[in-house]
Amino acid sequence: MNCPDYLVCVCMGVMYSDIYAFLLESDSPSFDSVKNCLQVATGCNSCVDEVHAIVADVLRIKKINV
Ligand code: FES
Repeated sequence: MNCPDYLVCVCMGVMYSDIYAFLLESDSPSFDSVKNCLQVATGCNSCVDEVHAIVADVLRIKKINV
């Protein structure tokens, strides 16, 4: 992770590092999996776009490292 940690989902108190680590360790990383497991994007939904962006970044990283 090359950027400073920050709070992504204010409603659920989930940090960027929590989402990033979950997705890296997941066998099937996706928006739905992170939503179901970390409860992000289950409140006001203002973090939805950011969570999608993090998922896309991690998928790109995992593809590169296959
Ligand atoms: S900030 Fe994530 S649901 Fe509100």
